[in-house]
Amino acid sequence: MITATKFSVHKTNKSRLAETNFDALEFGKTVSDHMLSADYRKGAWTTPQLIPYGPIVLSPTALSLHYGQTVFEGMKAFRTNDGAISIFRIEKHYQRLSKSLERMSMPALPFELFSEGLQQLIHLDEAWVPKKEGHSLYLRPFVFASNEERFGVHESDDYRFLIITGPVGPYYSKTLKLKVEDRFIRAAHGGTGFAKCGGNYGGAFYPTKLARQQGFDQVIWTDGSKDLNIEESGMMNILFVINNVLVTPPLSDTILDGITRDSYLTLAADLGYKTEERKIGVKDLALAFENKTIQEAFGSGTAAVAAPIGSITMLGKEYLLPPVPQNGFMIRAKSMLEAIRTGNAPDTHRWNTLITI
Ligand code: COI
Repeated sequence: MITATKFSVHKTNKSRLAETNFDALEFGKTVSDHMLSADYRKGAWTTPQLIPYGPIVLSPTALSLHYGQTVFEGMKAFRTNDGAISIFRIEKHYQRLSKSLERMSMPALPFELFSEGLQQLIHLDEAWVPKKEGHSLYLRPFVFASNEERFGVHESDDYRFLIITGPVGPYYSKTLKLKVEDRFIRAAHGGTGFAKCGGNYGGAFYPTKLARQQGFDQVIWTDGSKDLNIEESGMMNILFVINNVLVTPPLSDTILDGITRDSYLTLAADLGYKTEERKIGVKDLALAFENKTIQEAFGSGTAAVAAPIGSITMLGKEYLLPPVPQNGFMIRAKSMLEAIRTGNAPDTHRWNTLITI
């Protein structure tokens, strides 16, 4: 365990806490007082620093700005029913970050730097962890190529690891109106689709903008094959309940290994649902609508947790989902997840790391 003495700590003398309205939180708009920063230089990570949140100085030659060596995670910490704080599935997030770093040819991050860094930072900004039901502290660890003084095309020698955090409220979404995207793709085999690297998100903005201009909320990504096999929904994984079975596309190098997705697949067994990780082509999906076997469709991700889908346009036709069933999988699994994270249900899958500093 990295102890506090191994972190250099510089506290802010101007907390923004008092001026923060915890009743009107917008995702990504509010950041906590401190951040963690550690540099990778000459082949090693330097002493992590806990410092006031603020701008960073970056050389214009920083290779993340030119060649996109930048990866991130999205995680959450929760206030438990007895006032403690727990971080959700820290090991699984670390494994995914490690895979992203490897794919982008960036240096590995030691687990203790990641885990202890998160814990020390959350401990320091403990007052920023919301106490209200459905609220949480969103955690954004990220690594990017930093201050190398040359911009030749090569992998960087210098990197920075930052963690910023911010309180977020519950995500209430109207049901999403989606179109299956049949012109652009998000990822191809052999590419970086499974990695949480910045470019995957940047590349999605333009097709999403076009879809919004056509009145849709987001696109459904496919594998671009003739079957148009469904892969993801916007920036989320996608799950369906068809014939009482929880169905989702199988992981591959084109699909992000979503931690919320994985949690739903695990909870499905606890709730008595069968699961199938299988390819779903648009014709398959259209058939499920025509046969009326499709009961639910939703996006899953750390930020949204579950975002119900109301309509899907594909093959030139709009297909409507039935209203979200109150005793259906999505609502039950989402509240089970919330109960586990807040200590209101037993953590049988050992997903919570309680901050014990
Ligand atoms: C998340 O769901 O946490 C994500 O990382 C996706 C997004 C907010 C970029």
